[in-house]
Amino acid sequence: SASASSLVGRRTGSAAGEILRQVGDAIAPGVTTDELDALCHQLCIEAGGYPSPLNYGTSPPFPKSICTSVNEVICHGVPDSRVLRDGDIVNLDVTCFREGVNGDTNATFFVGSVDPESQRLVRVTRECLSQAIAVVRPGAPINAIGRAIQDHAEAAGFSVVKAFVGHGVGTEFHTRPEILHYFHPRADEIMVPGMTFTIEPMISVGAWQQRMWDDGWTAATVDGKRTAQFEHTMVVTEDGVELLTLHPDGRWSGDGGQ
Ligand code: MF3
Ligand code: CO
Ligand code: CO
Repeated sequence: SASASSLVGRRTGSAAGEILRQVGDAIAPGVTTDELDALCHQLCIEAGGYPSPLNYGTSPPFPKSICTSVNEVICHGVPDSRVLRDGDIVNLDVTCFREGVNGDTNATFFVGSVDPESQRLVRVTRECLSQAIAVVRPGAPINAIGRAIQDHAEAAGFSVVKAFVGHGVGTEFHTRPEILHYFHPRADEIMVPGMTFTIEPMISVGAWQQRMWDDGWTAATVDGKRTAQFEHTMVVTEDGVELLTLHPDGRWSGDGGQ
């Protein structure tokens, strides 16, 4: 049976999942990332929530309501006047604070028609998240998550970004536990019912190393090759896992699926 906190998490998570879907539906060649930011902001407010990224952090505070990460940008891309072009891939990362808790979810979308290697990258990244979720259950060690992701990404010839991790999420945006997306033998904390965290693998065609832009947020691959990401917030249940950030229709947002 679900705890009261997981009921709240489910309502907030599903709102975040709906917002991700709706902003994703607005992606098209010619649209700017600032336009996607304005839409995300409006939808968070209409849902009775607040966009967690806005003014998050201190060095400097994140200036927008969504992260938009295009092509070689790994994560934390800052919306601006950039125009999306046919053939781009773009990750939208939505976090909504509502009823006192955060729901954090992201997906990667095609802009128009995308080359076959980018299509494969996005599909494999989506599968990495799906296969990681499949190992979440009480009694499992947290490093089973990173093992599942690394095995699948490297079998496809891709690399796992190490600098950014999944995280506990709830009343705080980022808290314990830390969820590595590659296998680390010491990361052997055991999952217990009620643990609520994200898994958010970033998978690259080339190098896994990242470099931050001088805006203090945008992280890009060192070789300029493309990278993709998917994220869900989930809770460990008595017998497995429940995804909190699913869209109410149960389908994942973004591209690379069936
Ligand atoms: N949503 C991101 C995550 O998955 C965090 C974004 S922090 C921000 O953890 F300030 F860039 F929004
Ligand atoms: Co996120
Ligand atoms: Co997150």
